[in-house]
Parts: sequence; structure tokens; C-alpha cells
Amino acid sequence: PIKVTKIACIGAGYVGGPTCSMIAHKCPHIQVTIVDMNQERIDAWNSDTLPIYEPGLEEVVKKCRGKNLFFSTDIDKAIIEADLIFVSVNTPTKKTGVGAGYAADLFYVESCTRRIASVATSSKIVVEKSTVPCRTAQSMRTILEANSRPGLRFDILSNPEFLAEGTAMSDLDKPDRVLIGSLSTPEGRAAQTSLIEVYSNWVPKEKVIGTGLWSSELTKLAANAILAQRISSINALSAICEVTGADVDEVAYACGLDSRIGPKFLKSSVGFGGSCFQKDILNLVYLSESLHLPEVADYWRQVITMNEYQKSRFAKTVVSSMFNTITNKKLAVLGFAFKKDTGDTRETPSATVCRFFRQENAKISIYDPKVSEKQIFLDLTEPGVVDDAAAAKKQVTVCQSAMEACTGAEGICILTEWDEFKQLDWPAIYKSMAKPAMVFDGRGILEADKLREIGFKVFSIGKGVNL
Ligand code: NAI
Repeated sequence: PIKVTKIACIGAGYVGGPTCSMIAHKCPHIQVTIVDMNQERIDAWNSDTLPIYEPGLEEVVKKCRGKNLFFSTDIDKAIIEADLIFVSVNTPTKKTGVGAGYAADLFYVESCTRRIASVATSSKIVVEKSTVPCRTAQSMRTILEANSRPGLRFDILSNPEFLAEGTAMSDLDKPDRVLIGSLSTPEGRAAQTSLIEVYSNWVPKEKVIGTGLWSSELTKLAANAILAQRISSINALSAICEVTGADVDEVAYACGLDSRIGPKFLKSSVGFGGSCFQKDILNLVYLSESLHLPEVADYWRQVITMNEYQKSRFAKTVVSSMFNTITNKKLAVLGFAFKKDTGDTRETPSATVCRFFRQENAKISIYDPKVSEKQIFLDLTEPGVVDDAAAAKKQVTVCQSAMEACTGAEGICILTEWDEFKQLDWPAIYKSMAKPAMVFDGRGILEADKLREIGFKVFSIGKGVNL
């Protein structure tokens, strides 16, 4: 096995940035270069304002940048210099063509692979870090092998990333496991050993697991599908709780005490978001259908159907509780990111709910501690519809504080579980609002009884006693 001294990472996004910054931090003897074709993103990585927010990330980047961690748009140079290359580019759901709406778009992965094949002048270990459909490594291998030249070989590994946004740095520091898939040939095993050695600088040996390439690829899709399924399961139960008078938090707690079930990831909410869960399940659905397993495809599809139902159920509850009309009513939306401690809004349930409110002609005041006004308007307008941006500006205001968003509102919706929302001056907010003042807690983070004492009418997801 070769000893890795130079690593390149193609794709400076939510995965490439944090993972390779952590490698630089833990392996001072390895030079890490993170490259991207997006100049603006690279400039931000090289500035004081990083392009993504993750607790603990800035400290690590500032410590390593310019020493053994570099951000650049010179992709070819990074490829030529590296012994090992992570491919961490985006793999979004295809919008058109075969598999539209389900299949992963592998255009970016393939262009990177072809780039590596054409510019490399020495042997490389190519590591698939992006989440890809099962057997993508095979396609990458075929492209690389067809381009190998005498004295130049390519080995391919699958090393899916399990970090969760919002806790990326601690997940990377202490991963539950690191999975490295390889071919079972002596060369494949040697490449695997080289990457194991990189991780062994901080990850205990027993946490690094070697598997075949296909198992590794499928594990990533499977893990996300199972996680999302837990959320959809508890959300399905939350609907029953609201009708029967049961309390979803009590049900989740008592179920979670069963050691076979476990307590984590059983929090009912307005629905899951993020760039991965939906995309990866759709990918699994597409895979199942391509393999002529329609029952399996239907099973996983239902996880997404339940999530859509949960978001629209919440939005409809707001309208029906506000006497069946929210036209021209001021609604405060607290939280726009898809979860706390991130500024990421991809597939955020908050956008779905706000779009629904727009259709109902409400006036929406949004506050999120980490999402920019520009991003919120991008997410709430239809790209290409000319007048929509102007219409959105009339209907939507982005505020600098929760208090500002809530002042004069008739209803407040909690759509992201930011800790600061638990500590707001609720009596002052109550005073500033039109009455009856309503709170719709889509994340189950507020103490409803205390709010009711102040005078609020309160709806919490999955609680039988409401308003
Ligand atoms: P992202 O969209 O934030 O970053 C991808 C970057 O790759 C972009 O900056 C883009 O400009 C760059 N890129 C695309 N093609 C390129 C090319 N040919 N050359 C150079 N740069 C190129 O995506 P993110 O969130 O980092 O996800 C990357 C992959 O990791 C996806 O497959 C995703 O499913 C997976 N993943 C994401 C997780 C997350 O929490 N976001 C967690 C685990 C896996």
C-alpha cells in the first residue's frame, strides 16, 4: 500500500469542506487541497466568512488553512499532485430524462472521473465520497481503466460520508463508523489499507469497517432510508395522537426505552428536510424499480409520501385554526433552515409551509439566525417566473430577530428547532401580537402549558390537547 501524503478533494460543499478540513486537522503530515469549479465558493473558503456554517468548522479551517489545507479552483493541479482523490461532488435528483424525479444525476461524478483520467500523470486512489447509486464505482472504474496508461493505475474505493449537518465536526471527530468499500483484489485491498491508515490518525481501528464496493454504496442509501423511515413512522403516529389525545413525546419516549428500538431519531416534527433523505430514498426507489422489485419501491416511496403529508397537514392545521382564512394575516415563521445549527435550506419543510401560506395570501415574516435574506427569497420564488420575485417581496419580510418577526402577528409557526426560540421573551411577544395570539409548534420544542398561562392558544405536533 502507498503512504498517502497528498490528498485532493473535488467538491468544496457541505461534505468535501468539513471532511477534508478534519483530515488536514488530524493529519498535519498530509497536504490537503480542496478544489471546486465554483469560484465564489472557493473565495469564501479563503475568506473570513466561510460558505457554510457548522459549529467548530471555522476554528479548524483557520488553524490549518495555508499550512496543510488549501482551497483552490485549480482542479487539474490538485489532481496531478495528489496520491488520493476524494470525489465529493453533488449528486442531485435528475430533473429531466430517464428516471426524472427519482434517479441520481451522475453527470458531476462522471465529469470528475473523466477529468482525473485525462490529466493524471501518476497512479491515483480515487475515492467515491458522494452518495451514489449502487454500482457507480463500476462505471467510474471502467472510465478510469479505459484511460490507464503504462505506469499509471487507478484504484477505486467507496467511502460514503455519514456526517449530519449541524453536527458535522463532532460526527467527523468521533464517527460511529467509517466504511471503506473496495474490490477484493490484492490491489483493491492495498488501496483500502492506504485509506484506513489516513483515518487511523484519529479513528479507533475497530470503527473502520472494510466491505465490498457494492455493499458500501448500498449501505449509505440504506442508512438514510432507515433514518428517514423512523421519522415518518413517528410522524404517522403523531397524526393519531392529535386525534386520540395521546402525546407523541410520551409515546416516543416509552417506545425508545426498548433497547431494540432506542431513543434517538424519534422526535415528531413538521417533517424532515435536507439535501439527502429524500434524494437518497428516491434513488433507492429508482434502483428497486430498475431491478424489477416494485413492492420494494412502493415500500420506500411511502416514507416520502408520509413526509409530504406531514408538511401539508401542519400548514392546513394553521389555516383551519385561524378560522379558515389567513388572507392578509401576519404570520411569523421562526426558522427557515432544515434543522438547527446549519444555514442549509435544501428541501427545508419551512419553505414548503411558507409556499403554502403564500398561496393563501398571508403576510409572512421570517426570522432565521443563519439563513440569508437572499437565500430565503431564492427558495420561495419560482425560478424563471418573472413577476414572482416582486410579488414575493410584497408578501414576505425577512426579519433580523424573532421579536421583530412576531410583533403584530396573529400566529407564530416554529419551523426549525433553534435553541434560541425556547428562550424568547414570550410574555413580551404575547403583548405585541393581535389576539387571539396563536403559536403552532412544528418542532415540539416549546412548553405549551407555560405559553397557555401567558394567554396563547397553542398547537403542538402530536399532542392531543391543542389550542
Ligand atoms: P454541495 O452541492 O454542497 O457540494 C458539491 C460541490 O461540488 C459544489 O460546490 C460544486 O460546485 C462542486 N462540483 C460539482 N462538479 C464539479 C466538478 N466537475 N469539478 C469541481 N467541482 C465540482 O453538495 P454536498 O452537500 O457537499 O454533497 C456532496 C455529496 O455528498 C452528495 O452526493 C451528497 O449526497 C453526499 N452527502 C451529503 C451530506 C450532507 O449532509 N450534505 C451527507 C452525506 C453525504
